[in-house]
Amino acid sequence: MTDTPVRTAIVTGSASGIGAATVLELARQGYRTVGIDLDAAGAQAAADEATKTNRLSHLALKADVSDEAQVVQAFEQALVFLGQLDVLVTSAGVAETTPFMDISVASFRSVYEVNVIGTFLCIREAAKRMQRGARICTIASVAGLRGGGLSGTAAYASSKGGVLALTKSAARSLAAQGICVNTVAPGATLTPMIAEHWKNDAHRTRVESMSALNRTAQAREIASSIAFLVSPQASAITGSTLVADNGLMMY
Ligand SMILES: NC(=O)c1ccc[n+]([C@@H]2O[C@H](COP(=O)([O-])OP(=O)(O)OC[C@H]3O[C@@H](n4cnc5c(N)ncnc54)[C@H](O)[C@@H]3O)[C@@H](O)[C@H]2O)c1
Repeated sequence: MTDTPVRTAIVTGSASGIGAATVLELARQGYRTVGIDLDAAGAQAAADEATKTNRLSHLALKADVSDEAQVVQAFEQALVFLGQLDVLVTSAGVAETTPFMDISVASFRSVYEVNVIGTFLCIREAAKRMQRGARICTIASVAGLRGGGLSGTAAYASSKGGVLALTKSAARSLAAQGICVNTVAPGATLTPMIAEHWKNDAHRTRVESMSALNRTAQAREIASSIAFLVSPQASAITGSTLVADNGLMMY
């Protein structure tokens, strides 16, 4: 009997919301993970939960995905821990809700630094260390498809449009290495990112009623979509956008 090698993954934004749920879902599926987040305590809590789930050791690293030196160092450490890298999920992200005419250039840049440059840096560092058959999943948003209009505004929506294009660009560039790159575009998903907005019943009802299923997703539902795209079963999918939005973009 031959042992199937344990699949390995790096998940950014692992301390909270969709990233934390992805660490747990991948642990349920038998992966060993490294979580990277600015929030070291939150990332450690997710790693501990993953260990309880599949009895493997999981690592949490503190790093800012928009800082090139920190990303390079974190990926080096992660590879020492994991030995090989099968999967990258880039869930680290920030929201921005300032009205269009009031957004400062500094604020616009800071959103791009994390959501676009941070995603790019992590894809680049992962791809350097991946073998044929590896998978990358980025996290865009319906905001990138529709130009915002839910909770996020211009800086956020355009950064997520950037993630959509970046994902396709990476899929083209990394195809020769046998690496598939896709994105999940969630609609409203109940995580700390939108929790404050969701306290406003009128806002929540307006956004939910724009979706066919008239509801908000849970983080674990988005994690399931991500887990499929990074699985060996998704071997014919690259450069794709999986819209997980309760049927909002149909409108
Ligand atoms: N929640 C939603 O409704 C929703 C909808 C569409 C897309 N998204 C996207 O999903 C992704 C995950 O969001 P979430 O809802 O889980 O939010 P969240 O706020 O719960 O989690 C985001 C995580 O990213 C980390 N992070 C932020 N900046 C970082 C940086 N510079 N370096 C490292 N880590 C950093 C935070 O510490 C946090 O742990 C984001 O890209 C978000 O834009 C969320």
